[in-house]
Amino acid sequence: MKSSASPTPSEPLADAAIRIDSHLDGAEERSLADDVLDGLTRPFKELPPKHFYDARGAELFDRICELPEYYPTRAERAILEAEAQNIAALTGAVELVELGSGTAAKTRVLLDALHAAGTLQRYIPVDVTESMVRDSAEELASEYPGLRVHGVIGDFERHLDRVPQADGPRIVAFLGGTIGNFPPGSRRRFLRKIARLLGPDDYLLMGTDLVKDPRVLEAAYDDAEGVTAEFNRNVLRVLNRELQADFDPGDFDHVALFDPQHEWIEMRLRARREHTTVVRGLDLAVHFDVGEELRTEISAKFTPERLEGDLAAAGLELARWLTDPEGLFALTLSQIRTG
Ligand code: SAH
Ligand code: TRP
Repeated sequence: MKSSASPTPSEPLADAAIRIDSHLDGAEERSLADDVLDGLTRPFKELPPKHFYDARGAELFDRICELPEYYPTRAERAILEAEAQNIAALTGAVELVELGSGTAAKTRVLLDALHAAGTLQRYIPVDVTESMVRDSAEELASEYPGLRVHGVIGDFERHLDRVPQADGPRIVAFLGGTIGNFPPGSRRRFLRKIARLLGPDDYLLMGTDLVKDPRVLEAAYDDAEGVTAEFNRNVLRVLNRELQADFDPGDFDHVALFDPQHEWIEMRLRARREHTTVVRGLDLAVHFDVGEELRTEISAKFTPERLEGDLAAAGLELARWLTDPEGLFALTLSQIRTG
């Protein structure tokens, strides 16, 4: 497999502190093409969510995190602020690996605590969006003197084996409820892969959104300002650019619904009129009936029982269940089950 695991030739000062490996290669474009071909030619149309996050998608996601309706970011941050010291003391972590790190905004709360505890040596952000890994690496290396940052640009579903070997006890963080974006089967498979990253002294720190009043859930994914709608439609712009499709994003309404059977939020794009889109890069014509929906994302909401079950199925054992005062969101610490 072709992959360029080359440290970036960077500025002299950053040299010692920052290393970035990129594992993005032709496979990413193939995966988008395969996903689109696969997802848009079946009766119930669907696209996987990782294609949301180009530079514009990342920017829109940042705005979502600030919306009054989008409570998960604030709740998770509140838990981190209350518990980071305890987490640092419990884990004694010398390094933090973060999957889907994005802008690493909340991560700073953890890094602060590990830094104050005097154990912090290395931060390893893993994200498919190149600009976010590079920018956050630069920022964090300069904010935390002595911190080494080893960024991994890649797909966490394919490149977990590229995460460097541990140098001591580590925390693997998977925040933001991103685990909820996997359908249940692949969710458990992915947790099993994460478990393989953990040694006996390591911890998985995972953020999961909790089941609650559907009105609160649906508002979080359908804000009054329409930022989430724009984020949802952004996937069409990605297809236009990467696969020479001719979607008019204005042809689609944003839909966010809580499915109580599955206990997940479904994000869809609903065609406002009957039309046919041509995806030139794939030599594909895709027909939409009026009102026809394309599923773009699920975001699973958890009960404690469901989460413990998923962790157990991956060989993980819950060590701490941490929640905010309103019980909106949970942060869990787990370890591999021994014996
Ligand atoms: N952890 C941040 C960002 C969450 S958004 C927070 O809690 O706010 C999800 C992040 O995961 C985005 O930065 C996106 O680029 C990244 N991501 C999504 N799918 C990915 C994949 N398959 N591999 C690597 N990163 C992925
Ligand atoms: N992981 C986030 C979540 O499920 C991602 C997210 C928030 C999202 N809002 C969105 C994804 C809207 C797609 C559309 O909460």
